[in-house]
Amino acid sequence: MNMEDSGPDRRGSVFAGLVGASQVLGLVSVVITGVWMGHYRGGFAWDGSAREFNLHPLCMVLGLVLLHGDAILVYRVFSNEAKKKVKLLHGTIHLLALITSIVGVVAVFDFHSASLIPHLYSLHSWGGLTTLILFSLQWVMGLLFFLFPGASSWLRATYLPIHVFCGLTLLVMAIGTSLLGITEKLLFSIEYVCRRCFYVTWFLMRSQTQTSNAFWDNSLKNNCNLQLWSRA
Ligand code: HEM
Ligand code: HEM
Repeated sequence: MNMEDSGPDRRGSVFAGLVGASQVLGLVSVVITGVWMGHYRGGFAWDGSAREFNLHPLCMVLGLVLLHGDAILVYRVFSNEAKKKVKLLHGTIHLLALITSIVGVVAVFDFHSASLIPHLYSLHSWGGLTTLILFSLQWVMGLLFFLFPGASSWLRATYLPIHVFCGLTLLVMAIGTSLLGITEKLLFSIEYVCRRCFYVTWFLMRSQTQTSNAFWDNSLKNNCNLQLWSRA
């Protein structure tokens, strides 16, 4: 077999490998977000508590990252199937992504309202809301231009490159927003550990100048309401 014969086959298997890798990475992202929120941050509920917040990261990574990316990939993966079917699949997966991410954003708004936390105070929240609104618009535009029979083929052809560009930009925006959200949540979560480190540091510094054990035992009780650490 010469090089020319093996070309398309080789490209096909490289493509299959890349799609497989993207699916593994996407699923791993969803699973580790679920384990972070479900196991390490107390689980899920719909009751206005922090457990309702926990639904937010999970829904957003599942909807606006994994499903969004997969909906875009279907045109490449099923390039030999009938165009109409692939179009329906593309629109349907995007609809699932839209519903999942609306549930995720409602969860965080509801949690903020119930806990009297102000809304929209961060770059993440404004970036996120903009991404979700534009994503909804993109879905409606896709439906109007490509699924309903009203649009002429000239209009469809003119809109297609805009649709593709906006769709890919939205995927990048969703990933960027998620990274901002993950960083923010991480900072909120380690605040507790930092406070502990601060107390340990403070304790060690003071212990250089004080000798009485009783003093330190009292000091511990009075100053560290977390009671999480002990004297070395
Ligand atoms: C594309 C995906 C995402 C979008 C569109 C999005 C959107 C939003 C919005 C609109 C808010 C504001 C809620 C309010 O003001 O009441 C918010 C808050 C929040 N989100 Fe996300 N989010 C996304 C992904 C994530 C992820 C993956 C995390 C990871 C843990 C996260 C963590 C947070 C946190 C900690 C808050 C509360 C603090 C704040 O308002 O900035 N988000 N998100
Ligand atoms: C938020 C929702 C949507 C996003 C983010 C999005 C994104 C994209 C992207 C990135 C592509 C390029 C795919 C590629 O080059 O392989 C594409 C193609 C396309 N999309 Fe969407 N899309 C959305 C909704 C829709 C809807 C609802 C429809 C209509 C059912 C639709 C119809 C199409 C069509 C017909 C193509 C052209 C495929 C081709 O001929 O190559 N899209 N979309």
